Formats: sequence, structure tokens, C-alpha cells
Amino acid sequence: MTLRRMATAGVLAAVVAATLGAVSASAGGPRPPATQDQSLRGLAARNGLYFGTAVDAAAYAGASDPQYTSMVDSQFSTVTPENVMKWESLEPTRGTYDWTAADTFVENAARNHQLVRGHVLTWYSQLPGWLTTGIQDGSIDGPQLRALLHKHITDVVAHFRGKIWQWDVVNEAVSDPWETPPAIHLGGNTGSLKQKFADLLGPGYVADAFRWARAADPKALLFYNDYNIEAFGDGGPGDKTQFVYDLVKRLRAQGVPIDGVGSQGHLSTQYGNYDVLAVADALRRFTDLGVAVALTEVDARSLTKDAADPAKDAAGADLNARDQASAYNYHVLLQACLLNAHCLSFTVWGFTDKYSWIPNWFKNPPEGSGCLWDAAYHPKKSLRTVQGDLAAAGPPLVQPRVPQKPRR
Ligand code: XIL
Repeated sequence: MTLRRMATAGVLAAVVAATLGAVSASAGGPRPPATQDQSLRGLAARNGLYFGTAVDAAAYAGASDPQYTSMVDSQFSTVTPENVMKWESLEPTRGTYDWTAADTFVENAARNHQLVRGHVLTWYSQLPGWLTTGIQDGSIDGPQLRALLHKHITDVVAHFRGKIWQWDVVNEAVSDPWETPPAIHLGGNTGSLKQKFADLLGPGYVADAFRWARAADPKALLFYNDYNIEAFGDGGPGDKTQFVYDLVKRLRAQGVPIDGVGSQGHLSTQYGNYDVLAVADALRRFTDLGVAVALTEVDARSLTKDAADPAKDAAGADLNARDQASAYNYHVLLQACLLNAHCLSFTVWGFTDKYSWIPNWFKNPPEGSGCLWDAAYHPKKSLRTVQGDLAAAGPPLVQPRVPQKPRR
């Protein structure tokens, strides 16, 4: 598939039309809304970019918080199910699928003219209990796991055929430099579930997962998705980005149907910052392989001192420093994406601290405050930064320079 074919037109055209309508009204009619009052989807559409969020299905469905639902619908042009398309959700009992929540998600997205990032087909985590147990206790062997994965990918991709824009076909298959052994490899720590999953399937499973997905839906864009691949390191054995790059390059050379690389973008202000050009360089190296890229799970969290109530503590004395650092991380990832014509979408992993996975996941040390809006839906510095970046990325808000002539 060529990159040209990837530029999906339909939904984007509608959003662009809506946005341009608002702007052209400035010629005679009412003034367009101030930039900060325009939706992220509208601001991004002017640059041909889709702006997305992960959606918490319970919060979306719950009538208790209509603001959450209306913001998902109005702010975003692409959506990712945070959990309801994971294997544990779709097949909690072996052999029995439950499509209910995922189907509802896809229907809602269609109603709101949003493209869907399907998440996720092949991942060692959030597997159903029966499968995790079988992998751990050895009652499911390699050939059995391979057959189960083949069936899972085929059934799930076929079920949603024609309704998914980008599929995360393989997620987090690669180790981290702090794991054992430290040289990056397929799998994780020695003895971990992540390593067992990789070992049982054998090295060819990544290529096969993409082939199985393509066979079940020839039109969906097929992505490899991972974290800590925002920038290259020293290119040595501990450089995860380099490992993923080499993997993708090999897959492309073998004719495996991989269309994109998703850089998750889960950042923390405690680790210092990337810079725009380093991230842009990484994206460019991937797209030079002929694949698209996307920022798929962006958030930028900070240390908190009160695990029970991270939001409260984030309002402490150094609120400004943390908010600024978080905003800067959003800025770096978004600018890098905007600089690459093949960066298709920029998706945040939740948009409000109210439902963010961060405080539940990063407890030691406790972290929080990683989203664009706080837990009370107040805009944060990161939101204003993202809006400003989208506005400044091109016309109509940024106009060509017009040289002035001297009056006399
Ligand atoms: C997270 C969800 O946000 C949580 O609700 C869930 O408990 C654990 O998984 N990388 C991924 C996502 O690819 O699927 C993860 O989502 C976050 C890290």
C-alpha cells in the first residue's frame, strides 16, 4: 500500500468543510470562535491531521457525566477504545465472544464522524484469564498459542472489517533496556509473561500477525505500536527505537503488510524532555521506510506526593513547573508530528485527569496530572499549548508574510 492511498479523505473532508465554514464567516458574518474555543478536531483538520483520544467506555456510557461524552464527541476526530477491544474484553470465556461494548464503541464513533484506531490484536497483557493461566502454567504450548492468535486476529479483524482505520496489530513486543537481559529483544524480563508469550510464539509471529490481519481486512492500516520509541538513542544494543526500526525495516524488506508505526508517547516530566527535532528525526527515519506514523497514546505525567489524591497535590507550590513541563512534552510530540507529512494522527490517552489511567498505574512513585484538562475539566497549560501549536501550524490562522512598503 502506498502512502498516498493512506490519506483517507471522507471524514476529514467533512471536518475541513465545517472548519472552513466557520472561518469564512469572518468575511462578512459573525466572527469565528477564538482559537481556544475551537475544537481540537477542527484545529487539527486544517493541517490534515486527525486528533484523537482513548475513550473510557464506562465513563462514556454513564449518564452521570454528560460533559465527558459530549467532549469525546465534539473535540476528537479519531477515537481509540481504551480497553473494550482487548482480548480479555472480547473473549472472557474461551470460545465465546462478547462484542457488545466494542460494537457500541464503533457505532458511536460512526455517529460522530470519527475514525477508529483498533486497539489491540497481539499483546501479552490484558489477555483473558484462561489464556494467561495457560501460558504461565504451560498447559498451552507454542503451536496452540499460535493457532489461538491466528483465530483471534482473524475473527476480530473480520468482525470489524471496513470499520477500522488503523489497527494496532502488534503492541509492545519489545523489551526495555532496564530489563534482563539488557540488550533489546523480542519479549521482556527473563521469566516474565512478556518473555513467555514471545518465546511460545517464536520469532516469526510479528510478521504472521500482520499477514493474518491483512487477510481479514485488506483496507485497514496495520500498525506496530510501542512506547519509548519517540527518539533514537546511541544505536547500540540498548536502543529500543533502533531495534524497532530494524524490525520494521526487515518486515518491509520481506513484503510483510505493515503500514505504520505507532509511537505511544507516554511521557513523564521526571525524565527530562525530548526536543522537537530529535522526535521529528525519529519519525522521519520511520517514514523513510515507507510506513506512516502516528502518536497513539500521548500523555505527560508528573510526580505527585499524595497517591490518594494526585490532583490535589499537583496544585501545590510547584504546579507551574510541572504544568509547563507537561505542556512542553505535548508540544514536542505534536510539533514533530506536524513536521511529518506521513504522521496521520495524534491521539491522547484520555483527555481529562478525571479518568486517566496514570494514578492507577504509576504508584511508586505516585504520578498524575498527565492530561490536557484537569479532573474538573479546567483547561491546562498543555491544552493551550496544543491549541496554539495547531493554530500556528498553518493557514488560515497563520497568514503568509506580507512585506510593508514605506509610506513615502
Ligand atoms: C491501559 C488502560 O488505560 C488501563 O485502563 C488498563 O487498566 C491498562 O491498560 N499501553 C497500551 C494501552 O497500549 O493499552 C494501555 O492502556 C496503556 C499502555
